[in-house]
Amino acid sequence: MNAQLPSLDQVKIAVIGLGYVGLPLAATFGRRFPTLGFDINAKRVEELRRHHDHTLEVSEDELKASNLLEFASDAEALKGCNVFIVTVPTPIDEYKRPDLRPLESASRTVGRAIGAGGVAIYESTVYPGATEEACVPIIERESGLTFNTDFYAGYSPERINPGDKQHRLETITKVTSGSTPEVADFVDALYRSIIHAGTHKASSIRVAEAAKVIENTQRDVNIALINELALIFHRLGIDTHEVLEAAGTKWNFLPFRPGLVGGHCIGVDPYYLTHKAQQIGYHPDVILAGRRINDGMGGHVAQRVAKLMGQRGLQTTRSNILILGLAFKENCPDLRNTRVVDIVAELKSYNANVHIHDPWVSAKEAHEEYGLDLVETPDPGQYDAVILAVSHREFIALGAEGVRKFGKPGAVLFDVKRALPRAEVDDSL
Ligand SMILES: NC(=O)c1ccc[n+]([C@@H]2O[C@H](COP(=O)([O-])OP(=O)(O)OC[C@H]3O[C@@H](n4cnc5c(N)ncnc54)[C@H](O)[C@@H]3O)[C@@H](O)[C@H]2O)c1
Repeated sequence: MNAQLPSLDQVKIAVIGLGYVGLPLAATFGRRFPTLGFDINAKRVEELRRHHDHTLEVSEDELKASNLLEFASDAEALKGCNVFIVTVPTPIDEYKRPDLRPLESASRTVGRAIGAGGVAIYESTVYPGATEEACVPIIERESGLTFNTDFYAGYSPERINPGDKQHRLETITKVTSGSTPEVADFVDALYRSIIHAGTHKASSIRVAEAAKVIENTQRDVNIALINELALIFHRLGIDTHEVLEAAGTKWNFLPFRPGLVGGHCIGVDPYYLTHKAQQIGYHPDVILAGRRINDGMGGHVAQRVAKLMGQRGLQTTRSNILILGLAFKENCPDLRNTRVVDIVAELKSYNANVHIHDPWVSAKEAHEEYGLDLVETPDPGQYDAVILAVSHREFIALGAEGVRKFGKPGAVLFDVKRALPRAEVDDSL
């Protein structure tokens, strides 16, 4: 006989991995169900117990309002939970292959704590098949239980966007799925109880996994097309944004903009899909071409700045160049997979002195992750070129005139994001 699923009033949830995805989820579930937020990072657990979230996704008041939420970094505390939601990172390795180690380690943790009737729901972005092929066997091995007899699995991808206060967990339709039709109904009901926007129950875990990974792949490829157009129009001497503005008056023209594609989602997730495709003997041309174009944009920006400097008789060697912004996107402290580092690396290869200023990010993290030392307050009138790389609101508030004040007279001002009026900068993507 199959072990019985818990009813909603018996649910005790464990959220494993309290990052950008896990914490908002734990805080939301913690207002409705007994919830344990678990993370291997004891420092993170300590800060959360003090109601502080350094990712700025969940406020102190929201954490306090989550009255059924507790935190732990000791896996013993997971015993007694019957729903385990895994929200650990799914990065790529240096060869751009999926690095499943956090997922495997979290699955071992689940396997040691899950009991009869328990449900393991994965939220981390993966390739189609990963939950049942890579995670479930680990839970079976660690627990000694049999899948779909003693315990069950689900997959419900997360769609939040760090720093976005409008599209929040509860206001985004959530895709749900389960390892049997009954489990799918259970997972769907669980999420429906907290998601105001409602849910979409997919027909299988693999469909839900595939849906998530293509959302980001579609974005990546669309941006790659616009980036390729920007490369062409630059050579033609045409302003890309003017072209996009004109083309955008057609009802079905998609409003993508050129730029760096960073963060650990859009620039990473497509490699999960291409990995799986290659494993089954299909070589994905379009997706990988898009990745190559997007990964080349940082170098392209640096080359354009160097060219503009050359046209003004400014040498790049030993020049001082200021980069405004290091986070992977505006108004958030997230440094993961920021492609601003490609601009830095290319400029440094010309022997330029590159200073980076970003009021949003932790200087310690920038040093630890990238070996980059941030400048806390850039001196005015010091730079041969200024690159606005991330359109944090502080930089926009300065306006082109304020940003130019960092430069020497005649310095180049390049606006990667097209955030300042075009006529007031020297060039933009
Ligand atoms: N950040 C986003 O905007 C976003 C959006 C949608 C989906 N996702 C996906 O969600 C997943 C999580 O992303 P994130 O941004 O929340 O990551 P994150 O790096 O912010 O947080 C992950 C947390 O997991 C913890 N952790 C790592 N291994 C663990 C383990 N074995 N056991 C317990 N805790 C562990 C880390 O200490 C960290 O606190 C990824 O698959 C990501 O692709 C992220």
